[in-house]
Amino acid sequence: MSRIHEALKKAEEEKANRAHNGPEVKAAEVAELPATTAEGMVPIVDEEPAAPGAVEVGSPDQLTWEELKSQVRKLQWNPNTKTMLFFGQGAYLPGTEEFRTLRSRLHGFRAMQPLRTILISSSSPREGKSFIAANLAQILVLQPDQRALLIDADLRWSRLHLSLGAPATPGLSDYLGGEINELSIIQRGPLENLYFIPGGTHPANPSELIANGRLKDLLGRLAPLFDWVIIDTPPAMAVSDARVMAELCDGVLLVVSAGLEPFDAVQRTKQQFENKHLLGVVLNRAEPRTSYSYKYYGYYRGPEKDTPKDGNRKGKG
Ligand SMILES: Nc1ncnc2c1ncn2[C@@H]1O[C@H](COP(=O)(O)OP(=O)(O)O)[C@@H](O)[C@H]1O
Ligand SMILES: [Mg+2]
Repeated sequence: MSRIHEALKKAEEEKANRAHNGPEVKAAEVAELPATTAEGMVPIVDEEPAAPGAVEVGSPDQLTWEELKSQVRKLQWNPNTKTMLFFGQGAYLPGTEEFRTLRSRLHGFRAMQPLRTILISSSSPREGKSFIAANLAQILVLQPDQRALLIDADLRWSRLHLSLGAPATPGLSDYLGGEINELSIIQRGPLENLYFIPGGTHPANPSELIANGRLKDLLGRLAPLFDWVIIDTPPAMAVSDARVMAELCDGVLLVVSAGLEPFDAVQRTKQQFENKHLLGVVLNRAEPRTSYSYKYYGYYRGPEKDTPKDGNRKGKG
C-alpha cells in the first residue's frame, strides 16, 4: 500500500474516531487556534516523478528580472500572522517544520525533473489549499536567491489577498479578461523575492477565463523569471478549473484535510490528476504521528539560510 493510500486511510480513520469520541474540529476553529497548526500538517510526497508541464517558457520579447522588479508595485501588506507563518514573527512556530520538509521534498523532485510551476488542489473547499500555497511560497523564498510567484487562481472565491493583507485588485481575472498587462497585476510585499498575483475583480465567467488561453501566455512570460510558481485553485470536485490549469503546470500537490472528505471522494480527486503530473498528497490538520520530530526541532534550530541544491535556474533574468 502506498504512503498516500495509507495517509488517506488514516485520515478516514481519524474522522471515524472523532465522530465516536466527540465533535469534529471544524476548519474555522483550527484557524482560531494557531497551536493546532503545530502538528497539523504532514507532507507526504512520494509519487513517482511526472513529466514536465506543457507551457513553453521564454519568448523573443521575454521580460527580464530587472524590468519586472522595477515595474511591479511594492506594497505594504498586513499579513495575518496567525496563519501566514513566515512573516517574521518566528520562523520556528509550531507547524513551520513541516513546510521545510515539504520544501526539501520539492527540491528532491526537482533534482529529477523540471519543476517550477506547482498547482495546489483539493477535493473540496476549506481543506487548506490557500494556507498551504501561501506558506509554501513563503518558505521557498526564505532560501537565498530563490524567487517565488504566488498566484490566486481561485477566481470564484479568491481569498489569498486577505491572508496576506494585500489589495485584491487588479489581479488574475483582470488580466485574463484582457483588460490589463501582466506587470500591472503583480505585487510584492515585505518578503524579498515573494511576488503575488491576487484573484482580481470577481468575474461572471471564471471557467471561461481560465480556459481562454491567456493563462498559458502569462505563465510562459513570467515563469522563466522565477524559481517557483505556486498556483492556488478552486476545489477540484466542484469545478474543472484545476484540471484545466494542471495541464499548464509541472506538478500538482493534492491537499487533503484529515477527516473532512470520505476516502472514496479523495481517491476520485486523486485519479483526476494521475495523468497530470501529480507529485503527491499533503495531509493537512493531521494528528501528530509522534512527538519526536517536533521535540527534536524544538531543540535543534539550524540556520534558515540553507543553500538550495537545485540547478533549475534556466532562463532567470
Ligand atoms: N494546518 C492549519 N493550521 C491552521 N489553520 C489552518 C490550517 N489549514 C487551514 N487552516 C485555516 O483554515 C481555513 C480554511 O483553509 P483554506 O486554506 O482557506 O482552505 P481552501 O483554500 O482549501 O478553501 C483558513 O482560515 C486557513 O487559514
Ligand atoms: Mg482557498
